[in-house]
Amino acid sequence: MDKLLIKGGNSLAGTVEISGAKNAALPELCAALLTADSVTLENVPALQDVATMLKLIRNMGVQAERSQARPSTVTLNAGALSSPEAPYELVKTMRASVLALGPLLARFGEATVSLPGGCAIGSRPVDQHIKGMQAMGAEIVVEHGYMIARLPAGQKRLKGASITTDMVTVTGTENFLMAATLAEGETILENAAQEPEIGDLAEMLIKMGARIEGHGTRRIRIQGVERLHGCTHQVVADRIEAGTFLCAVAATGGDVVLKAGRADHLDAVIDKLREAGAVITAGDGFIRIQASGRMKAQSFRTTEYPGFPTDMQAQFMALNAIAQGASAVTETIFENRFMHVNEMVRLGAKIQIEGKVAVMEGVEKLSGATVMATDLRASASLVIAGLVAQGETMVDRIYHLDRGYDQMEAKLRGIGADIERVRS
Ligand code: EPZ
Repeated sequence: MDKLLIKGGNSLAGTVEISGAKNAALPELCAALLTADSVTLENVPALQDVATMLKLIRNMGVQAERSQARPSTVTLNAGALSSPEAPYELVKTMRASVLALGPLLARFGEATVSLPGGCAIGSRPVDQHIKGMQAMGAEIVVEHGYMIARLPAGQKRLKGASITTDMVTVTGTENFLMAATLAEGETILENAAQEPEIGDLAEMLIKMGARIEGHGTRRIRIQGVERLHGCTHQVVADRIEAGTFLCAVAATGGDVVLKAGRADHLDAVIDKLREAGAVITAGDGFIRIQASGRMKAQSFRTTEYPGFPTDMQAQFMALNAIAQGASAVTETIFENRFMHVNEMVRLGAKIQIEGKVAVMEGVEKLSGATVMATDLRASASLVIAGLVAQGETMVDRIYHLDRGYDQMEAKLRGIGADIERVRS
């Protein structure tokens, strides 16, 4: 297993190119299942999760090719699907595989998708996905660890429905959105997720001929159409990658420009970083952060978009760990998303977990040590901590990091970090 060796203490300066968003690319790769025409996706990030999704849809019979000239461009064609299945071997490594359910049911009237099983940050059930598909007329039985979904005999298409989920679910909203584009009649999604990746998916579906309004709000209306056609779509920039780099610079000090970063997708995080003492300016297609001296620790609670994103919780805690003063971090979305805390304590952080709340006391310095990544964003937080810790930090199990960050160590080296990958 690869590791990252980091020598802390360098401030960061220069320019970083933000890649396409993992959490937009994954549903948008599945959206190609909705048409027999070719679909071209640009700005697709080079991530392990994207490779897994490409493997999953190729497994179904989708043709998917990365352009030789521009590797971030992927052309897909789902004209000749052979098996509408998402097998356990692939789904167990990536929960987002559940995003195949809606498109397969909408276009082919059947889908066999493995239950994802839990993951490090929580049980991650898919009961809402099942509830929404049943509301649209699908018959779903769960057996042998699989969701086996069919349309009733004689029913050719899903039926539009009004779907209100028990909680806001990002991939649930994306599944319903994709399924509804080909359903008969109107679908209303109440309590819909508002993350920017939902809006980006909706924009892609509209280019394919879908009739959608209200995306980006809690209420989305979709009028089903008979079929969708191909399109070319550019994946929106990754707000969590951008937020991760902003936290890194705030922690180490420096002056960095994030090219392609979308400040309008990071309001809650940028507000907190400004309160901490960072100077952040933004314009069309860039975010600049300048930070010097010790930041002031900030308390926050994670909530659904546009609130503070749960995917930025661990990274901001790394900043709080060495900032001035006390802070309280409340995780309201997932039940087990503090696994980075024990590793940060090994680096010298002062953190107490009390249920959903991490109570922190900023320390002057962290000291490098060997730490273990447990999940994607926890890995990123340990890299940030290593960048500021005194001496060497070795982050183990960075396959977690490779799932969601495109060449992180190369991008960090490019702005002055002393970091290298140690291949096992
Ligand atoms: C998406 O996961 C993201 N993944 C996650 O990013 C992100 O943390 C999460 O949304 C919240 O923003 C992708 O988009 C691929 P949810 P998702 O359904 O859709 C509960 C990362 O680091 N729930 O919005 O799986 C669930 O347990 C990843 O990039 C049910 O109970 O999350 C959680 O407590 C991690 N039943 C809450 O809802 C369901 O059927 C929100 O989950 C669905 C969800």
